[in-house]
Amino acid sequence: MRKKIIAANWKMNMTLGESEAFFETFLLELGEDRKVEVVVVPPFTALAKVGEILRDVQTVKLGAQNMHWEKSGAFTGEICAGMLRELFVHYVVLGHSERRTLFGESDEIVNKKTLAALANSLRPIVCIGETLAERDGNQVEAVLEKQIRGSLAGLTADQLEETVIAYEPVWAIGTGRTATPEQAQAAHAFIRKMLAQLWNADAAAKVRIQYGGSVKPSNTASLMSQPDIDGALVGGASLDPRGFAEIVQETRKLLA
Ligand code: 13P
Repeated sequence: MRKKIIAANWKMNMTLGESEAFFETFLLELGEDRKVEVVVVPPFTALAKVGEILRDVQTVKLGAQNMHWEKSGAFTGEICAGMLRELFVHYVVLGHSERRTLFGESDEIVNKKTLAALANSLRPIVCIGETLAERDGNQVEAVLEKQIRGSLAGLTADQLEETVIAYEPVWAIGTGRTATPEQAQAAHAFIRKMLAQLWNADAAAKVRIQYGGSVKPSNTASLMSQPDIDGALVGGASLDPRGFAEIVQETRKLLA
């Protein structure tokens, strides 16, 4: 069985003080249950602080929002895998649509980062998803296939199993417009079918595919109960410690 994984992508939010205040409330609300894997992905500036807060906490893992593929060197403004490892980071979000559209990240770049993350024992959360124009133009499957082939090129089946895929339809991010459970399930099933074709059925059955895009406590149960939805990548609603804990609780309830 695939363990569900709920991650908080804080994006460019949360100072050190705000991060501390978040965990004071969140850890109490979260409790000790470990049925669902929980990941918090702060901005780089808060990684060390959050890592310290989580040092003895078994219920929450640390993630980063991006990284460069090279080991070190003249790359002003960038961060490498080794620097993240040093802070006990487990996961790294790669190819988020905001990185793709605002910062020009291509599938080729996302692929280099994914391979570098895996080579350094970081688990990539690779984001894919179509725009509204692509959905309206019946391009969803073509876009997802291209992103899967490009972003995940060269991964072994074992590496694929270590990778989490986040299906985030661009039109649902930060818009309050969530994909319906049926729309999300159809996309997830297609992604899994592609993985089975390109790697093998066994690896495809093990890969966790998260949904992202306006996830909140009230729509969590309907999305997370879909057979191919294995978790959520939560933006806006993850900034509120009670709301994010509620998203985890809603997911746990489905497994009870
Ligand atoms: P929202 O939950 O704010 O729509 O953001 C989704 C997202 O981009 C998570 O990576």
